[in-house]
Amino acid sequence: MSKIFISNWKMNPQSFSEAESLLKLALKFKTPKIKIVLCPPFVWLRDLILKYKNKIEFGAQNMFFEEKGAFTGEISYKMLKNIGVKYVILGHSERRNIFGETNEMISKKVFVAVSNNLVPILCVGENLNIRKKGKKIFEKFVLNQLEASLSTLIHNKIFNKEIIIAYEPVWAISGSGLGIADTPENAKSITSLIKNFLFKNGFKKFLVLYGGSVNSSNVLNFFSQKEIDGGLVGSASVNFDEFSKMIQILNKGLKNK
Ligand code: PGA
Repeated sequence: MSKIFISNWKMNPQSFSEAESLLKLALKFKTPKIKIVLCPPFVWLRDLILKYKNKIEFGAQNMFFEEKGAFTGEISYKMLKNIGVKYVILGHSERRNIFGETNEMISKKVFVAVSNNLVPILCVGENLNIRKKGKKIFEKFVLNQLEASLSTLIHNKIFNKEIIIAYEPVWAISGSGLGIADTPENAKSITSLIKNFLFKNGFKKFLVLYGGSVNSSNVLNFFSQKEIDGGLVGSASVNFDEFSKMIQILNKGLKNK
């Protein structure tokens, strides 16, 4: 199976022409070894999808759990479906920490996404204080957060829909964290724990990714681990040079599917 490279553009870039250039770069280096999913901000998402929907896959960076109504600033699953979005990032640590999203809200969002055939990219990960408490404690935290964020699916016994989990240690994220990537060994070991948890709970179709300061110098170390199905990449994926390097490195370095 090919690995998945999800580009989380966050609040970048500032113009449609830059957004389009980034997309063109992704098209230029497209390879069957890697599935690229672009997650631009909503304004560029719609414009890009209308123009390039058959060429590459798209995800949104967030979504509200209600279908419509008086929710200023929010976007519904229906709006995303209507423009042809397939994936949606949910529970990113920046949403949790800056915008106060709770596990309960995130679990409702995951349920609404899955029930409407959007694939959630659910983010989980510990902050630095928890990480410093040691392996047992931070692993337990991540699994508890995962369980809480999936609780509506578990409660409703929805196990046969595609879900993606991104393990992103909060401290490892560039911009909102320290910007130091985790080690591939740890990413691999926690990815296995997450997969075990999902399997034991009855989930049937899942991928588990690593995210947090992935760049051209470490991308192959993460993507070449067999336990890691790919990556959620932020700042390096909106840097033209880094983005092209990463895709070329993966294309050269990953074994054939
Ligand atoms: P980063 O972000 O690659 O810039 O660290 C990853 C993410 O927040 O999804």
